[in-house]
Amino acid sequence: MFKQTLEPVVKYDLLSPEFYAAPNATLHQMRAEDPVYWHPQLESWILTRYNDIHSVIRDARFSVDRGGQIGKGGSPRVSDKLNFCNRYFAQWMVFCDPPRHTRLRTLAAKAFTPQLVDSLHSNIKRFANELLNAVQDIGRMEVIRDFAVPLPALVTAGMLGIPKEHIDDLKCWSTNIFMLFGAGFATDSVVEATYHSLVECIKYFDELIVQHRSSPSGDLIDQLLATGDQESILSEEELTAMCITLMVGAYETTTYLISNGLLALFRHPDQLQRLRENPLLIDSAVEEFFRYSGPAFSVVRRAIEDIQIGGKCVQADQKIYCILHAANLDPARFPDPDQLDIGRKDNRHLGLGQGIHFCLGAMLTRLEAKVAINAIVQRFRDLRLDTDELTWMPNLAIRGLYSLPVIFEA
Ligand code: HEM
Repeated sequence: MFKQTLEPVVKYDLLSPEFYAAPNATLHQMRAEDPVYWHPQLESWILTRYNDIHSVIRDARFSVDRGGQIGKGGSPRVSDKLNFCNRYFAQWMVFCDPPRHTRLRTLAAKAFTPQLVDSLHSNIKRFANELLNAVQDIGRMEVIRDFAVPLPALVTAGMLGIPKEHIDDLKCWSTNIFMLFGAGFATDSVVEATYHSLVECIKYFDELIVQHRSSPSGDLIDQLLATGDQESILSEEELTAMCITLMVGAYETTTYLISNGLLALFRHPDQLQRLRENPLLIDSAVEEFFRYSGPAFSVVRRAIEDIQIGGKCVQADQKIYCILHAANLDPARFPDPDQLDIGRKDNRHLGLGQGIHFCLGAMLTRLEAKVAINAIVQRFRDLRLDTDELTWMPNLAIRGLYSLPVIFEA
């Protein structure tokens, strides 16, 4: 007698290395055939049309509160650790709905001001130049390791008053913490790594905040402390969580905006030449990098009531992956979406989100990417890719490469 297997049929594979290597064809196919698709393995809806995603991420009937399910997976052996991580993440503004979100965002926005970002400009330039000086005579570098990781790490450390010698530890914790978000189903080792890094990170920031209380130095943590105290709106635990949110938000994204943007230029030498000849195009070029290959691959929402999307009934409590990368390649919104055009007009991509959760670090990350990409492109002649093999991280939250080796004229 045959045993019948009732494995769910997965029409579109969103979890294999092949998908991450070249996701566009699958996403175009999904958008054309089944733009509101139930993915049985992810137990979630997958949206790929610009208009659907634009509406959902602005609609209060879709919550960012994932009901304790931000990270999933792991065996029963690690379930306590997973629950700890999920309880902690649930405090972050990006996972809170109003009114709690409004309170946290208002406070963060009072400290993380455009003036603060402006004041970082000269440091960003200096760090970028120092990092490029170090490789100038060698004629080669691994962009991610040598430039795109250390640059935002140095900038963020300066902004939060973190001593330089602690940057490597923080980067490592931040990467481990981020792994759980986009893992789909995390393995035990991912849960373990996230848990241990989170515990270390909480301890680190708790201590840093105590130091800042006794001897303020005028950085972002001091601003957060001052605003929080004045308006009595932030507990100690919330303050630590806010610092970790800002650190993870800053460390794990700008790196891949810089490296994905450079890769896009290597694959379109005419656009690389165009930028080299017109450095002022950098503003629209960076917006195009967000659209064409932005690092925020998807964001997740949970329906709080039954809602129709594109003729399908999304039931209360079901999860929805809004694939920002697919929205940004939707031909109904962007003419020639697969074409990189660094001078593109009307480029309202969703690469930084939309609505009340629109990226708090948008101004900073744009500034860092502009300085970084122009610094490399203007400085190095004959800059090109030095490999045929590129490996993308298997992650639904973030789109980024493991490494990007390049060569140039020394
Ligand atoms: C290329 C770089 C970046 C990208 C692609 C990016 C992307 C995003 C996206 C898509 C969201 C919305 C999430 C959602 O709707 O669920 C978001 C929110 C957020 N981002 Fe960024 N981000 C970047 C850099 C940064 C930086 C540098 C910081 C901090 C210094 C930061 C801090 C935040 C915070 C705190 C939120 C939550 C805002 C809220 O919930 O109100 N991000 N980001």
